[in-house]
Amino acid sequence: MKTLFVNIGTLAGITPKGTLRLEGHAMDQVQCIEDAWLLVEDGLIKSFGTGTPPREEAAKVDACGGMLMPSFCDSHTHIVYAGSRDGEFLDKLNGLSYEEIAARGGGILNSADRLHHTSEDELYRQAMERVREMTLKGTGAIEIKSGYGLNPEDELKMLRVIERIRKSYPGTIRSTFLGAHAVGRGYTHEDYVRLVCEMMPEAARYADFVDVFCDEGFFTVEDTARILEAGARCGLRPKIHANELAVSGGVQVGVRYGALSVDHLERTGEEEIQALKGSQTMPTMLPGSSFFLGIPYGRARDFIDAGLGVALASDYNPGSSPSGDMRFVMALGCIRMRLTPQRAFNAVTLNAACAMGISDITGSIAEGKRADLILTQPGWDIVKIPYLHHTPFIRQVFIGGEAYS
Ligand code: NIG
Ligand code: FE
Repeated sequence: MKTLFVNIGTLAGITPKGTLRLEGHAMDQVQCIEDAWLLVEDGLIKSFGTGTPPREEAAKVDACGGMLMPSFCDSHTHIVYAGSRDGEFLDKLNGLSYEEIAARGGGILNSADRLHHTSEDELYRQAMERVREMTLKGTGAIEIKSGYGLNPEDELKMLRVIERIRKSYPGTIRSTFLGAHAVGRGYTHEDYVRLVCEMMPEAARYADFVDVFCDEGFFTVEDTARILEAGARCGLRPKIHANELAVSGGVQVGVRYGALSVDHLERTGEEEIQALKGSQTMPTMLPGSSFFLGIPYGRARDFIDAGLGVALASDYNPGSSPSGDMRFVMALGCIRMRLTPQRAFNAVTLNAACAMGISDITGSIAEGKRADLILTQPGWDIVKIPYLHHTPFIRQVFIGGEAYS
């Protein structure tokens, strides 16, 4: 099965074969060609170029001068959750902080209670609605975490739901065991950390990665190290929640255990930058939660100027970032974090793919990669996407070369 895209105004986000991440000033550029064509075969990018397209027996897509770019990769979400937490939204508007809501038994524990009383079928249905919404907004690869179960039975229920999404979704799904999201009801802290370690072999049947909320009031660096060691014994690489609520030491412990990414990083400084230098860990910032919680934005510019790569992700969840709109994430990256549109583009495509270990198969335009693509309306370019941040720009999303609807 072949599809030939013709009349592409700009083909954006081309990387040389084998480029798995962009760091430092390499993030300043997005390689583009004008007046282009692109050939897809069996869901993969077969070839592309400029000028006259090749003569091929293929279904044709007339891009009508629009831009064709890689679809967004969202390397940090919590989209398997039950219902909503709109009551807490009102508490927040009345002045309560994220920590105060959590201390009252709201927050993550509120979602855990709801999830406990929701069937697997219903959880799947609700999560798939979010997946569909995200895909129509241009996302083609999603990492999804457990972490609203907080006991063995409900954590596995979540991981099975993620597995079901993985099997039915045409894009790419990665699954993360976040048993250590909060201490489950009825456990002491110490007992719960031990239990998370004990859950690991069963969780590893489904999960690709292990995550810990290493932050003030949640899990310590010592807890995190124990859990990551248990994860490593089961072949799970870490992705860490760190430095959202306090300077937690989460970045350093993540790097020490070879984390694929350390995420949030709203409160980081020179020490975290130094810890990340020379590592394979992708610093990942979540401006949607800074926006929603009114907390600082990560210092992405300083990280990039220090020579590091940065990814941006949505953190889509009911408590701190109830949106999976990666275009909005890109806009916040520019408007609030003062990234250039090119840096933000690289952060939500290739580097976000790298932060979930899939930049060899998606996240940029390169021969042999999946044809996960956004076709824009005519007249769009990389700068306009965050600048005109709420004007509809997508004409069609293609996942594995197939038009998504
Ligand atoms: O990444 N910070 C920890 N976990 C999520 C929030 C989860 C929730 O509030 O439900 C986050 O922001
Ligand atoms: Fe999160």
